Amino acid sequence: MPLDIVVGTQWGDEGKGRIVDLLAAQADAVARYSGGDNAGHTVTVGRQVFKLHLIPSGITHPHTQVFIGNGVVINPVTLLNEIERLQQAGIEVHPRRLFISFAAHMITAGHLALDRAQEAARGRAKIGTTLRGIGPAYTDKVARRGLRLELVGDEGRLVTALQEHFANVNELLQKLYGEEPLDADLLVEEYLGYARAIRPYIADVSALLNEALGKGKRVLAEGAQGTLLDLDHGTYPFVTSSNPTAPGALLGLGLGAACVDRVIGVTKAYQTRVGAGPFPTEVFDQTAEHLRGSGAHPWDEFGTTTGRPRRVGWLDLVLLRYAIRVNGVSELALTKLDILSGLDEIKVCVAYRTGEQLHTIPPWGAAQLESYQPQYRSLPGWSEEIRSCRRWEELPSNARQYVRCIEESCQVPVKRISVGPERGDVIELS
Ligand code: GDP
Ligand code: IMO
Ligand code: MG
Repeated sequence: MPLDIVVGTQWGDEGKGRIVDLLAAQADAVARYSGGDNAGHTVTVGRQVFKLHLIPSGITHPHTQVFIGNGVVINPVTLLNEIERLQQAGIEVHPRRLFISFAAHMITAGHLALDRAQEAARGRAKIGTTLRGIGPAYTDKVARRGLRLELVGDEGRLVTALQEHFANVNELLQKLYGEEPLDADLLVEEYLGYARAIRPYIADVSALLNEALGKGKRVLAEGAQGTLLDLDHGTYPFVTSSNPTAPGALLGLGLGAACVDRVIGVTKAYQTRVGAGPFPTEVFDQTAEHLRGSGAHPWDEFGTTTGRPRRVGWLDLVLLRYAIRVNGVSELALTKLDILSGLDEIKVCVAYRTGEQLHTIPPWGAAQLESYQPQYRSLPGWSEEIRSCRRWEELPSNARQYVRCIEESCQVPVKRISVGPERGDVIELS
């Protein structure tokens, strides 16, 4: 059955939005399955640059329907703003095009306040979250006191649930973190208003997608974050609170495992990370400046959601092979190869060393990874600008050698090479 899953293989910001936009041309539906507005997916269509946080990147294609699954946590303020901005840009967003699962959970101002308080309380051990209330919203979901969107169809139950939610948040804020309480009465009214505004979009996403797949329609599942931020498989505890890996797509959309056709792993030609946590191949010298850029271009490495400069480093093949394993990646989409133009030497991490020992798989936890020394293979760089390349043969031979090195190490084919942010800036490989 024709479900393709697009998943980030690193710490997020691999260019998932850009690849989803590319693949959405052949899809009937695009569906977000995990995370919330901690995600920032940039899609460039001609002169228009869309920064999407919740709405699937396929929205820019007029023929697609878009879905937000039960695995997502939704801040209604962000959602309503995003719908408005897209409509202003001439993109149609309406309840026959955007469908949001009744089993997705709501993020409130209470979750935002708790995220801030918890990060402050962690002091030097802070995770560097996006402060979007993601962790507290998933905590409420797991604790079985979350605000499921089914509630927006029943105002009586919704008001009671909101009152209990803000009472609980205020107790935590005051007793645990010594913070001022929120104005619960005001917030209950405010969130009732948001609930009314999003009610027309609430649907049974699992049923709709299963029906679509049954009719042979192509569905694209759009991952947020990345494998190394996965709650179970990432560099715990420096992770997000959901499962961005490919199995999360099935769980977060209500689909069965038999639907999956391809798992497309999006991999940036180098590596970045926002927030705290281990990053064995991180660099700090002029190479870092080269990779990060100055901020002058929209693709420079500054967070879409937070504006924070991203930490940058060489591609880590140990972690990439691990990501391929835990996702079952069937093909890779390599992005931002153009950014490596102009470097004399390009390094890739092929193993780690601790003392005399060589490791080719990651250790059991973030604490150990901190002490692992990357072992590099050095490859020659290229000076040519490659953004106009459209065929494999047009790439400089050293760029081809770099791509072949990744394929050989990972034993997975690279099917797409992105050489720029725009739709056409891509080399498709058979
Ligand atoms: P996502 O979170 O995985 O969707 O990635 P982001 O959108 O946060 O970050 C990727 C950035 O790189 C965006 O600004 C994209 O427009 C840009 N981008 C994607 N692919 C390429 C590429 O091949 N070359 C260049 N120069 N920019 C790219
Ligand atoms: P996209 O979809 C990069 C990181 C945060 C922090 C950690 C936990 O654009 O790739 P959270 O707010 O989720 O509790 O923060 O996860 N993080 C991301 N980093 N890209 C993202 O999304 C991210 N979403 C969360 O920086 O380190
Ligand atoms: Mg991003």
